[in-house]
Amino acid sequence: MQPTCNIIAGLTIAILGGTGRMGVHLSAAWANAGLDVTMCSRRVHKAQAIIDELLAGRGYLQPREEALEGGGIMVPPHDASGWKLKAGTVEDAAKADVIVLGVMYEKQWEQLGTIAELIRGKGKIILDMTNPWIPRPDGYGQGIPPEMPQAAVLVHQGRLGDSTTRWVAAYKHVLWALILPDGPKSPQNGDGVEVYGEPTAVEVVSALIRAHGWRPVPRGGLEVAEEYELFGPRRPAQQVFADAAADMLSAGR
Ligand SMILES: NC(=O)c1ccc[n+]([C@@H]2O[C@H](COP(=O)([O-])OP(=O)(O)OC[C@H]3O[C@@H](n4cnc5c(N)ncnc54)[C@H](OP(=O)(O)O)[C@@H]3O)[C@@H](O)[C@H]2O)c1
Repeated sequence: MQPTCNIIAGLTIAILGGTGRMGVHLSAAWANAGLDVTMCSRRVHKAQAIIDELLAGRGYLQPREEALEGGGIMVPPHDASGWKLKAGTVEDAAKADVIVLGVMYEKQWEQLGTIAELIRGKGKIILDMTNPWIPRPDGYGQGIPPEMPQAAVLVHQGRLGDSTTRWVAAYKHVLWALILPDGPKSPQNGDGVEVYGEPTAVEVVSALIRAHGWRPVPRGGLEVAEEYELFGPRRPAQQVFADAAADMLSAGR
């Protein structure tokens, strides 16, 4: 596949936490769509080992002992000829046009903060995928203290404090294992990706979503971030499921 949309042609993408489940599945999907992707890691050799497998066409199955309870990375074998996918450091992420936040919420700012000075003033797009309210087997996912904005993207935006950065949130309710290089694993069960944030960033990320065969579901600007934060105080599980069902109906699925 090649990126068909002008708005993303030539854009570079870097994923922080790129060796994680979301990071690897999205790296493969975007690379297969013809995009230039850097899988960033605190240890480049960890990312390089995964990339070697992907570029050899073998996909990547995370060793069981490294996987979180609930499942690990499972990209199926796929022809990777022409993929523009490379490994990078955390600092390398600052060079990309679009920086994706793919670390667990509690650790994300610790990492983004180390490159904040390289990002400020540069007009980057930052895509926040972090889910503060989804409890994980390793103990992360304990929410955001009530005195702070009740949405990860707003917390990160406030911490970076840079008026040139364009913020967007997306992919929060998409299970990593459903993101395959050629599109959604089972489109009949869901192919929509909620996206909300600053208009230019929403436009770009919507094009990135389409590029790997999913369907953007725009929810609004950053003012809806607290309303749409997955399982946050303003969006209980039943609301998430009702929204998903309404989306599938309106998409004719
Ligand atoms: N899993 C899903 O289906 C899903 C769906 C939507 C959104 N999300 C969100 O996406 C993010 C990633 O989820 P995931 O399931 O892909 O996580 P994951 O598999 O645990 O991967 C997270 C990555 O973050 C890095 N990391 C781990 N511990 C760290 C630490 N202490 N400090 C800094 N970096 C650390 C690691 O990369 P390196 O070791 O290479 O640095 C790791 O590969 C989370 O915020 C999650 O809430 C997940």
